[in-house]
Amino acid sequence: MPNLIATSFTAVDLDALAGFEGRIAVVVASDGKLDAGARRINRLSKGALARLVEAGKLEDAKAGAVITLNFPAGMAAHAVDVLVLDRRPSALDARKAGAALGKIMGEGAALLIAGSNAKTAQIVLGAAMRAYEFNPHKTNTDDKSRTLSVMCAKPEEVEVEVKPLLAIAEGAHMTRDLVNEPANVLTTTEFADRLEEMESLGLEVEVLEEAELEKLGMGTLLCVGQGSDSPSKVVVMQWKGGEKDAKPLALVGKGVVFDTGGISLKPGAGMEDMTMDMGGAGVVSGVMRSLALRGAKANVVGLVGLVENMPSGNAVRPGDVVTSMKGDTVEVINTDAEGRLVLCDVMWYAQDRFAPVGMIDLATLTGAIVVGLGHENAGVFSNNDDLCNAFLKAAQTEGEGAWRMPLGQAYDDLLKSRIADMKNIGGRAAGSVSAAQFLQRFVKEDTPWVHLDIAGVASLKSESTLAPTGATGWGVMALNRLVSDMFES
Ligand code: BES
Ligand code: MN
Ligand code: ZN
Repeated sequence: MPNLIATSFTAVDLDALAGFEGRIAVVVASDGKLDAGARRINRLSKGALARLVEAGKLEDAKAGAVITLNFPAGMAAHAVDVLVLDRRPSALDARKAGAALGKIMGEGAALLIAGSNAKTAQIVLGAAMRAYEFNPHKTNTDDKSRTLSVMCAKPEEVEVEVKPLLAIAEGAHMTRDLVNEPANVLTTTEFADRLEEMESLGLEVEVLEEAELEKLGMGTLLCVGQGSDSPSKVVVMQWKGGEKDAKPLALVGKGVVFDTGGISLKPGAGMEDMTMDMGGAGVVSGVMRSLALRGAKANVVGLVGLVENMPSGNAVRPGDVVTSMKGDTVEVINTDAEGRLVLCDVMWYAQDRFAPVGMIDLATLTGAIVVGLGHENAGVFSNNDDLCNAFLKAAQTEGEGAWRMPLGQAYDDLLKSRIADMKNIGGRAAGSVSAAQFLQRFVKEDTPWVHLDIAGVASLKSESTLAPTGATGWGVMALNRLVSDMFES
């Protein structure tokens, strides 16, 4: 179960400030005007806030920055954290300020004096997102629960506003937990078990086992997992919060719990990073969790293909020809181009069974997208400008980088095979585009479709605004917003 900071909301109580023993965060606008809470902190600390303003420290700071005064005289608090933020900040600046607080919260209690700041709920979301930690495998940490008490005008209203935002944070934390988890723990079975647990939230969850997948004819998906001792699975999660017979949006995720490359073995250096190769499935799972937790008024189905790509005596070989559920045959030139083999069967199944109004797939699909876009943007490929633009807008609003890439016949031609309907790689040039072209061969003409290549953004080697080093949860916020834009407004 993802672990969020505990939050509570009360009216501003100035007389409680002197004796509070944890960290106290106070919001101060960049114009240096102190509200009642800040004035009290200033008085207790014998003018520390006024000196900070006079010294020009607020003007130097960017919106969303934090200036910490440690062990202020005249107060019981360990620290006063000054959040530099206008009274009507952008949502993203408010999250950033909250994140700066979430990062330094440490263990124990923090008190945020937000006063009448218009984006208090967004500050709390930022704190909850950034306070994430992944430590189930550290033996010397006892999980102290962290609390954030918020003093603000209209606490009941802010609490109502925060609730769906914390649902999003909890979904993103689930994604991060899955992505950070090592492959000996997060096997295909363990992954499916964790998804089944979400039935308690009102999701309908089905696990399709290998025998069933064989019956369905998912030969491309199954060939990827055939060298592993872990059984391949497809998990279907349905959230039915919308109108009864309305067709759903489908989210499809690549869930390669570990990608050795198979017989086309990857080099050893850095191979440990391939525990994150289930990142697409992780995002789909986190979004479904968020939708259920906030009771979204939308019909959404999440499907993940869970496999492990291992070399063995049973593994698929370069040169093998396999048949997809659609019926098209694929010559497997490189067993390390496995993600598309998994996705194409799950995507076909999603359309065949649900006839979705739109389909979005997510995958840590290609190293080439990391070369092209780095860690700032996911690659976005689409056959439909409306759905694509709706997604790009949602991603921009949520501050999650996304950049559209091209598709076209010339790229599709790269996949021609001498002996089968297609081969599974198109060569080094435009590697991310030919991967997307491969997927598009399994998209029905009238299905609006977006493919998100998240290889560069799912997990990072350094911290980002809302996440510590490691899994980011990229996409949970954007997809949650897309669902709400498409079906709830
Ligand atoms: N899982 C990898 C892609 C990847 C690379 C994800 C780096 C995250 C970080 C994928 O299965 C893969 O191996 N792709 C190959 C494709 C190639 C064989 C055509 C690649 O990108 O090298
Ligand atoms: Mn691979
Ligand atoms: Zn892979």
